[in-house]
Amino acid sequence: MLLEKKIGFIGCGNMGEALVSGLVLSGAAKPENIICSDIAEDLLEAVKKKYGVVVTTDNVEVARASEIIIYATKPQILGKVLKETAPALDTSKLIISIAAGVPLAAIASGLHKELRLIRVMPNICAFVKESATAIAAGDYATKEDIKLARAIFDSVGKTVFIQENVLMDAFTGLSGSGPAYIFIIVDALADAGVKMGLSRKDALFLSTQTVLGAAKLLMESKEHPGQLKDRVASPGGTAIAGIHTLEQGGLRTTLINAVEAAARRSKELGDMMVKDFMENNKKNG
Ligand SMILES: NC(=O)c1ccc[n+]([C@@H]2O[C@H](COP(=O)([O-])OP(=O)(O)OC[C@H]3O[C@@H](n4cnc5c(N)ncnc54)[C@H](OP(=O)(O)O)[C@@H]3O)[C@@H](O)[C@H]2O)c1
Repeated sequence: MLLEKKIGFIGCGNMGEALVSGLVLSGAAKPENIICSDIAEDLLEAVKKKYGVVVTTDNVEVARASEIIIYATKPQILGKVLKETAPALDTSKLIISIAAGVPLAAIASGLHKELRLIRVMPNICAFVKESATAIAAGDYATKEDIKLARAIFDSVGKTVFIQENVLMDAFTGLSGSGPAYIFIIVDALADAGVKMGLSRKDALFLSTQTVLGAAKLLMESKEHPGQLKDRVASPGGTAIAGIHTLEQGGLRTTLINAVEAAARRSKELGDMMVKDFMENNKKNG
């Protein structure tokens, strides 16, 4: 469904390149139909060489040439690039923002048009085509737009459609920020292995592979994690002794608190962004 679409990226850093790579290498989009802009010319040249896409330093050219425009700059730059490209946007185009913490209302307020907007929150695992991505639609986005957005982000992982206002912050706290929690868990397990006498290299490999294997087993078996835990924890055995210690340390409560804190912070940042966008809009008339 994307093959004949003209897709533009404004900002082609880490996440922009991960998406270009996913789209081109999966065959979901044709490289000649993808156009990317960025301020870094060396970065653009590298992306052009690797994926055969069209590049430019002109954001407005991308907005004009594309049917789907993905804004992939840092959130602090989003207001500026939206303003710069706004004259080239109209209702024939689907506009997607991946800027963390910027609500659809803030984006819409900067554009003053009944545009088809979609907000997406991928995560860093997009680099290995395993992002857990949330997609939320603005008032004027159609069912077809949501399908298109899903097709784009399915090329770098798996997608879920959510109601932005109530759930996007929760999503950010769980799977947007979640890779950081898992990296710490892997690092801590490796420390534990080292404490027990394993080499750092072996300990890190074993803890990483254990997390990967556990995730794969959960996905493929479709069993509840509690059921799988029960299968590992035999009566009077080693795993239940470890689980008892995890419960004493409050691992479950700590993770719930972490997701809650990150979701709260996402909301705070979003509220600040909305305020900034509104003030800038007032200043610019
Ligand atoms: N990375 C993640 O794990 C992740 C996860 C979820 C969501 N996101 C969201 O994805 C977006 C991109 O993040 P990222 O990690 O890919 O950031 P990034 O690597 O910094 O990429 C953004 C790119 O935009 C360029 N840029 C700056 N000003 C520009 C302008 N006026 N016009 C065009 N391009 C411009 C930057 O160039 P310079 O570097 O030279 O400024 C950079 O190459 C952010 O909004 C972030 O919230 C990221």
